[in-house]
Amino acid sequence: MESVQIGSEAWEAKAQAVLPSSLVPGLTYTPEVARETAHLYERVARVIPPVEWPQFAPYVKAINDLKRVRNAVVLAHNYMTPEIYNCVADVVGDSLQLAREAAKADAEVIVQCGVHFMAETSKLLNPDKKVLIPDSRAGCSLAESITGADVRALREAYPGVPVVTYVNTSADVKAESDICCTSSNAVRVVEALGAKRVIMIPDEFLAKWVQTQTDVEIITWKGHCEVHERFTAEELRAYRESDPGVKIIAHPECPPEVIDESDFTGSTSGMIKWVEDNQPSKVLLVTECSMSDNVAVEAPNTQFVRPCNLCPHMKRITLPKILDSLIFMKEEVTVDPAVAGPARAAVERMINLNH
Ligand code: 13P
Ligand code: SF4
Repeated sequence: MESVQIGSEAWEAKAQAVLPSSLVPGLTYTPEVARETAHLYERVARVIPPVEWPQFAPYVKAINDLKRVRNAVVLAHNYMTPEIYNCVADVVGDSLQLAREAAKADAEVIVQCGVHFMAETSKLLNPDKKVLIPDSRAGCSLAESITGADVRALREAYPGVPVVTYVNTSADVKAESDICCTSSNAVRVVEALGAKRVIMIPDEFLAKWVQTQTDVEIITWKGHCEVHERFTAEELRAYRESDPGVKIIAHPECPPEVIDESDFTGSTSGMIKWVEDNQPSKVLLVTECSMSDNVAVEAPNTQFVRPCNLCPHMKRITLPKILDSLIFMKEEVTVDPAVAGPARAAVERMINLNH
C-alpha cells in the first residue's frame, strides 16, 4: 500500500475501507483521551514532559483499543521508547524473554516492536499466527554481518565444531546453526554443548566476553553492533574521574576494553535486574539510550548518566507506525519455508535448554 500521512483525510478514507468507521481513531487529544490515558501518563511522567503527552496519548488510546479488536499482543524490546514500552506493550523484555513470550502467545496477531530478526524469531515460533513489524526496514548490523553461505564455509573450515548463533541473525543463518543463544544465556548454551571448541557467530565482542567466562575454546566472526562498538574505555574513564561514585554496567556487545571498565556486564534484562537489586545512587548504562528512560521509570532513587547512543533500527518503530500496523495489518513477516524448519529447531533448542 502506498504510504499516506497518518491522520490525513486520505489515511482516514483508507482506514475506513478496512475498519468500521466507528473504530477509525480521531487522533486528537480530547478530554476523553486525556481521561482514559491518565493512568498511563502517571507511569511515564518522570521521563515524558507533560507538554509532549498530548502528541502521544491519542495514539496510545487508539493502539490499546485496536489491540482488542484485532486480538493482538504487542511484544516490545527494552530499547523501545518509553511511550511504547510503558503505554502500549503487553510484554517487554530482552531477546530471550521476547522469544519465550512469543512461543506462549495466544493472540491471533503479534506486533513486534523491535528489529526484524526479533519478528522473524516470533514467526518461527508461531508459524500459524500473523506476525507484524511496524517498519520492516528495522534491521541490525549484526544480522547484516553474516549469511548462511558464510556459516557453511565456517563449517567446512572447522569440521565437526558446533555452531552457536546469536539470535541477532537472519533465519537463513539460524537454519545453518546447531543452537541459538542470546546475551543472557550465551555462556550456558556454549557449555551445554559439551564440546571443547565451538564456533560462536556473529558478534566478535559477545564471543570474546563469553571466552572470559568459560574454558570452552571459542572461534568467532567479525560482526559488531554499530551502537555498542561506539563506546570507548576512554569516555568511561572520564565519567568515573568526574564522578567516582558512578556504577558502570555494560552490554556484552561492547568492545572488551569497555567491558573491562565496567562494574557489571549483562543482557538488557540483566542490566535492569542489576539496577533493581543494587539500587545504585548513580548509574551509567553502557547500551542503547532508551534503556535508561525505561529503567528510570522503575528506579526513582537512581540517577542515570546518559552517554546517548541510539539504535537507528529500533528507533524506526514509533506509535504512529504501530497504529498503522494494527489498522492495515502490515508489515507481515514471513520466513522462507525451506529454512523455517531448521531455523526453528535452533531457536527451540535454546528455549528448551532454559526450562
Ligand atoms: P538483549 O538480548 O540483551 O536484549 O540484546 C539485544 C540487542 O539487540 C542488544 O543490542
Ligand atoms: Fe542490532 Fe545493535 Fe541495534 Fe541491537 S542495538 S538491534 S545489536 S544494531
